[in-house]
Amino acid sequence: MNGPRVLLGVAGGIAAYKSAELLRRLTESGHSVRVLPTASALEFVGAATFEALSGQPVQTGVFADVPAVPHVKLGQEADLVVVAPATADLLARAAHGRADDLLTASLLTARCPVLFAPAMHTEMWEHAATQDNVALLRSRGSVVLEPASGRLTGKDTGPGRLPDPAEIAELARLLLERPDALPQDLAGRRVVVSAGGTREPLDPVRFLGNRSSGRQGYALARVAAQRGAAVTLVAAHTAELGDPAAVDVVRVGSAAQMRDAMLAAVKGADAVVMSAAVADFRPSALAEHKIKKGSTDPDPLVLTKNPDILRELVGGREPGQVIVGFAAETGDADGDALHHGRAKLARKGCDLLVVNAVGDGRAFEVPDNAGWLLGADGSEVELANGSKALLASRVWDAVASRL
Ligand code: C5P
Repeated sequence: MNGPRVLLGVAGGIAAYKSAELLRRLTESGHSVRVLPTASALEFVGAATFEALSGQPVQTGVFADVPAVPHVKLGQEADLVVVAPATADLLARAAHGRADDLLTASLLTARCPVLFAPAMHTEMWEHAATQDNVALLRSRGSVVLEPASGRLTGKDTGPGRLPDPAEIAELARLLLERPDALPQDLAGRRVVVSAGGTREPLDPVRFLGNRSSGRQGYALARVAAQRGAAVTLVAAHTAELGDPAAVDVVRVGSAAQMRDAMLAAVKGADAVVMSAAVADFRPSALAEHKIKKGSTDPDPLVLTKNPDILRELVGGREPGQVIVGFAAETGDADGDALHHGRAKLARKGCDLLVVNAVGDGRAFEVPDNAGWLLGADGSEVELANGSKALLASRVWDAVASRL
């Protein structure tokens, strides 16, 4: 395997069982993964599982295969280290530079990006000792993810759940694309992101919808949360996407519901990103009962214009609030996508506009994205093709520099 070399550290918590799925995702997307479990991780998941899924040997201590000096080599040669789950004990050992097993020794020799995905009980996560260790690791440049909230082992709930393996894999890819993509520069900020496509009801079972998957908006919410922001994600219809860790998700259906949710959420927010695909029109009348086939000739579909939420947000903008819009454009006889993007930025009055050239399978329902980031100050930055998380990280750079 010639893909990026990833060390997957697994510490001894019950969430260790989810590391097998993360491993699968990493190998399937072409990474060469060597698993470094702690001895306690092997109490939860057998070495054979990791060996079979990675195709590489698994050892926990520093005294196996000594002539190959794995405790130095593995870290030196890695392109990325991901520790998932990272327990309170593992974070403590990493923060204090212990090297008492192969994983912690490798953390000391690695010079590549390091991503810790914590999982533990809420009390352990919130304890000052753990929080100090997290701050210390972050101050040295490691990325320590905010855990998700939800059900923990047993009946209790709270922050401390391992983020979805899909989310960890997405953020791991982001760090390989861009090692400095997740600074804590949005700490203390509150941001609102809209995502997905609205559905405009016609009758109790039918609607007018669009092809937005919500992936770009979810990536924006995820990246903002992991850069320290308090995030509200107003989500219309999306593909099946897991809730981003440490994000407050508000679900809506129609454009009218999205408008109400956005107007409520943006109060006091530092930044707002409208990445949702909002329907421009809705059926003028909502039939109370399902429209029957053949009962009468169908009425022509009469449409009413929806309010432009972005323009309304710009109109009611609070002092200092940064507002970002999206534009999916195709070129035509009047000009290319960028030309239309510039005109839209002027029309909408937002601070930043992400322009995506769409058509030919680009942007919609795919993991990657590209385009331009236009600023009301006249700035134009090309957004090279990459993951939607990478594009999100560029948007937050521009937002952070304007806050
Ligand atoms: O005008 P157009 O729909 O192309 O503009 C796209 C931008 O405007 C996106 O940021 C989208 O979220 C926002 N929008 C909106 N309300 C609408 C239509 C679009 O906020 N009714």
